Amino acid sequence: MTDKELEQLSDETIEKYRKYVNPAYANILAFSGFNVPEDRAEGVYIYDKSGRKFLDCVGGYGAFSLGHLNPNVVKAVKEQLDKEALKSHFFMSTELADACEALAEVLPGDICYSFLCNSGTEAVEGALKCARIYTKRSGFVSAVNGFHGKSLGSLSVSGREVFKANFKPLLDNCVNVPFNDIEAMEKAVTEDTAAVILEGLQGEGGVFVATKEYMQAVRRICDEKGALLIMDEVRTGFGRTGKWFICEHFDIVPDIITMAKAIGGGVMPVGAFSATPKVWDAMFGKNPFMHSTTFGGNPLACAAVLSAIKETKRLNAVEESARKGEIMLKGLKKLQEKYLDWIKDVRGLGMVAGLEFEDEDIGSLLIASCGKRDLLVAYSLNNPKVVRVEPPLIIPDEELERMLSILDESLAETINMIKEFM
Ligand SMILES: Cc1ncc(COP(=O)(O)O)c(C=O)c1O
Repeated sequence: MTDKELEQLSDETIEKYRKYVNPAYANILAFSGFNVPEDRAEGVYIYDKSGRKFLDCVGGYGAFSLGHLNPNVVKAVKEQLDKEALKSHFFMSTELADACEALAEVLPGDICYSFLCNSGTEAVEGALKCARIYTKRSGFVSAVNGFHGKSLGSLSVSGREVFKANFKPLLDNCVNVPFNDIEAMEKAVTEDTAAVILEGLQGEGGVFVATKEYMQAVRRICDEKGALLIMDEVRTGFGRTGKWFICEHFDIVPDIITMAKAIGGGVMPVGAFSATPKVWDAMFGKNPFMHSTTFGGNPLACAAVLSAIKETKRLNAVEESARKGEIMLKGLKKLQEKYLDWIKDVRGLGMVAGLEFEDEDIGSLLIASCGKRDLLVAYSLNNPKVVRVEPPLIIPDEELERMLSILDESLAETINMIKEFM
């Protein structure tokens, strides 16, 4: 493609975004420096239409734990596509049975049943319904700045007002409490609470990790008050934090786990909620169609889930996430020491880390500066002061080091730029 053709394609695409997709987002794209469309992706790299190669440390916000186009997941999905793409859920599905069995083998405690859907927010909707039918109560307690999705139920339990304000009334009887605050949780959970829903690590909230003491107290409070505990592992499931599921760090087993993102192996969009036999009995015991979906659990998705589990094991991705996560956090802490007046905090667990700044503009400038150096890092939806790095778990060590040195250069550039305007 010539430069002129590329410019024309980029302009046309932005224009189509303006006319048919999202005009305000088109304006952001036009000014962000990311105004050439994406072309393809492989492993830890994304290529734009000009052939420019980016190191992807946004990682699909947790979806690309196995990188892009893991060859074995692609093969499994292609083979399935040649046989059958979708089903009517009329006959039994060996693919669904195999995927749910494989999930049960990696899920903690006695969580053994799974319902496959198509996204994280759908997984959360299913989990909320399970909690209501099991407890015959209506209330939910969740965390300030927590993120659980943007459909009406999951939005109701999410913790940032800006995304909720225009859509009220949402589910009533939902309370947000400060994260990692045992006393607040103690007060908020009542005889009317169906479930507490929490992320073990707030991703969009700005990479805050729950303490073990907190999560164990939440488990106890739920048990004492007869409420269920839902852990939202949409982002943390399948090794992101150095364990298959983040709840393993806390030595607790929730009643329901929600998943999405990485469970499709970075190839298929898949979500799931999984629970214990007692919860499943309440949900499906009397009526197997109490919750259903046309496309969820389709054979392509199931092939992807099964293969993602096999690949995660074959590549030792969970252990690698723990090992590389330590290297990453150590490197980022060194940057914090170097830019002490600018970086307020560095935190993370496994292969997700956040750099917190005093001001959200610094974060946006840093993301653009990294982009100029072909490194992609992420904005945090519920806490824009925090820049997130979420590389694929399979990132080679030398690319991890390169990411750290690009961040170093980009921080220096961003800080100089800000100093000029001070
Ligand atoms: C913890 C958590 N839960 C739920 C969701 C919603 O997932 P989806 O965007 O697939 O609906 C997200 C998305 O980022 C998430 O991070």
